[in-house]
Amino acid sequence: MTQKRQRWGTRTGVILAVAGSAVGLGNFLRFPVQAAKYGEGAFIIPYLVALVLVGIPLVWVEWTAGRFGGGFGHSSAPGIFQSLWQKNRFIKYFGILGIFGPFLIYMYYIYIESWCLAYAYYSLTGQLAGIASSGGFIDFLSGYQGLTGEVGTFAGTSQGFIFFLITFSLNISVTYFGIKGGIEKLCNIALPILFFFGIVLAIRVITLFAPDPLHPDWNSINGLGFLWNADLSALKSPKVWMAAAGQVFFTLSVGMGVILTYSSYVRKKDDIALSGLAAGTTNQFAEVVVAGSLVIPAAFIFFGPGEIVNIANSGAFNLGFVTMPQIFNQIAIGPLFGFLWFFMLFLAGITSSISIAQPSVAFLEDEFKISRQNSVKIFGAAAFILCQPAIWFVHRGVLDDLDFWGANFVIVLGATLEIILLAWIFGIDKAWNELHQGSRVRLPRIFKFIIKYVTPACLLTLLGWWFYCDWWKVITMADVPPENVPYILGIRLVLLLILIVLTILVFMAWRKRNAGKL
Ligand code: ALA
Repeated sequence: MTQKRQRWGTRTGVILAVAGSAVGLGNFLRFPVQAAKYGEGAFIIPYLVALVLVGIPLVWVEWTAGRFGGGFGHSSAPGIFQSLWQKNRFIKYFGILGIFGPFLIYMYYIYIESWCLAYAYYSLTGQLAGIASSGGFIDFLSGYQGLTGEVGTFAGTSQGFIFFLITFSLNISVTYFGIKGGIEKLCNIALPILFFFGIVLAIRVITLFAPDPLHPDWNSINGLGFLWNADLSALKSPKVWMAAAGQVFFTLSVGMGVILTYSSYVRKKDDIALSGLAAGTTNQFAEVVVAGSLVIPAAFIFFGPGEIVNIANSGAFNLGFVTMPQIFNQIAIGPLFGFLWFFMLFLAGITSSISIAQPSVAFLEDEFKISRQNSVKIFGAAAFILCQPAIWFVHRGVLDDLDFWGANFVIVLGATLEIILLAWIFGIDKAWNELHQGSRVRLPRIFKFIIKYVTPACLLTLLGWWFYCDWWKVITMADVPPENVPYILGIRLVLLLILIVLTILVFMAWRKRNAGKL
């Protein structure tokens, strides 16, 4: 059954949806951890440079490529890549990364999103209020995950699983109602609420007094300084540059295939240059201004500069799920602030996860002409099964391994391929014209140069550096504890299987298309 091609309802709708995709758990959980990990002031300059040289150019690349491919009826990377290089029979197979990457992220992202919903509920019901120490919150989190049945708060993963089911069902329902009826509607409501909660929380943190009389300098101004007082000596460290570039990719949702898909539903006459910039700026406001004024200053005020680094290094979720609720327990109407924090995280999460689902759904709709409703059912069934390993084997490092492949590797590779395809094969002049079609502004020409030379060079350097330093260690699982090796090997085989299935699907879709059957 064929359906009319989906479209966004309004221009604000598409900007909010792309901003919703970008503003996510990465902004509020990942950014503060990355910024804190490398110590005071080390992160901000590499981060801002990566934003200008890699992040923003890639946003424009994806909007351009996505809208162009949408004109040929394609909303996922295989078809979009094929439209950009019509003579090449193999390029569509490279586009598989634009479905594989987001699907892989979906396999663990929904689970973390469900923790946020659960913690919002626990904040309101006062279940976090009695926990006094970091150790208590760490036990609570592992109890919640079902890792410490006896000593933890819950037996097994039952509660954790129930919140996962709720979160998963909400996600699938939004996707089911489509681009305009589901995604756009949710983002129109969720983004303003999210920003309102975030700004209330940031104001609360900034107006906190130093609680420890022994450390009057542990105050919000110095907390902001922890992020912003740039430490130029850190610029020599390739690790900080890698981490900063990785954060920029993840937070802007570039390289994932998600913006490609969203922008394919935009009309030819719409202004993508400004929309891309508006969505990117909204995301950066959420990350640098809201999240930057929240988590790091709060942790600084209560724990001091040295301890922030330790907390960030002790686990990716400790700042958000251990330190923040501990702080809320020490301020007036803490449970309410706790609820605002975790519900804000949940809203940020769901507006991103629905975008991560869309490339797979769009692939089934466009390339197999399956109805949207049935595509969502097929996607939902596959995603439900494939989300299970991250839930049941979280303590075996499965979630971290998925995060490594999805957030650090596949998106960088995907971004490298798409920029080379657009700027070098499709051609930068054509791409520049395409980007400006319908646009009321002309972007500074320096970006034409950046998109053609600087961004690809940065991406190739990142990939090269990764291969040079890490690939052998990663492939041989050198850093994986021996008891976890079978699980990591297992999940990697699952990923390989997904790649093989996607390759076969692309092959089948184009065979049918070429035979005129689609
Ligand atoms: N961009 C999304 C995030 O930051 C994926 O979480």
